[in-house]
Amino acid sequence: MRHLMSPLDFSVEELDRLMDLAGDIEAHPDKYAHACDGKKLATLFYEPSTRTRLSHEAAMLNLGGSIMGFSSADSSSASKGESVSDTIRTISCYADICAMRHPKEGAPMVACRHSSIPVINAGDGGHQHPTQTLTDLLTIRSLKGRLDHMTIGLCGDLKFGRTVHSLIHALVRYEGIRFVLISPEELRLPSYIREDVLDQKGVPYEEVVRLEDALPNLDLLYMTRVQKERFFNEEDYVRMKDFYILDAKKMALAPEDMYVLHPLPRVNEISVEVDDDPRAAYFKQMQYGVYIRMALILTLLEIEV
Ligand code: NCD
Repeated sequence: MRHLMSPLDFSVEELDRLMDLAGDIEAHPDKYAHACDGKKLATLFYEPSTRTRLSHEAAMLNLGGSIMGFSSADSSSASKGESVSDTIRTISCYADICAMRHPKEGAPMVACRHSSIPVINAGDGGHQHPTQTLTDLLTIRSLKGRLDHMTIGLCGDLKFGRTVHSLIHALVRYEGIRFVLISPEELRLPSYIREDVLDQKGVPYEEVVRLEDALPNLDLLYMTRVQKERFFNEEDYVRMKDFYILDAKKMALAPEDMYVLHPLPRVNEISVEVDDDPRAAYFKQMQYGVYIRMALILTLLEIEV
């Protein structure tokens, strides 16, 4: 039985197959409408979510399956002190597959050790967010036609942003990838990724503070929100939260084919005027999130259509 804890759980070839399947689902949704008849997905969300929880649920419903779950720790027995391992033993009796989001790094990993159904990591603290990465890869491949030979700007909260951490892990496996890491000093990419992943693999990168300096040379810009919930004090968050605001004036500095991605939710870091720019791809990106999660559910349940 397979789980999804990190984007590295799939080889590059397996990722290609997953994205091809997502493409076929997008083109022929009817073909898949009953693929999961009788199957149940449980969503176990100990942290807030809109897109990740609802897109997993939409994915299962689109496949003909059904859904159950909780959307906050308060409404589950976690609030009575139940452990993740006991909860997952319970869910294993009720559902065929589950997606778990948890504020503690590694919680979904603990869950998969005690689970008799596939567990999908839907975000664990500041660590990883593999299904967002699958979404991002599919979006990039669909828009740019490739996943290699690109200069990618990652901007915002690179310290706590789990989507960025997972995306870097996934992209360093492709040839000719360069990163421009755009963040304030206090929100730099952690050294365990800079040194142990980028330096280790000899992936070129530069760190800059000003977004304007990076924009003219990018093939893609991945914006992120400052992760308020991971700050130790409110003052630091308030100081950092509007550090970057991408607006039409800054977009004028960027190449004609530089797409802007964002895992969403957006706060202030992308001005709404950018939404009408043809390079704004973040709403398309969330649509791709449903197709890739449909492909993921089929793959983990080993259902062939
Ligand atoms: C992201 C997350 O939860 O890490 N959201 C998402 O799943 N699309 C990004 C964020 O919350 O900033």
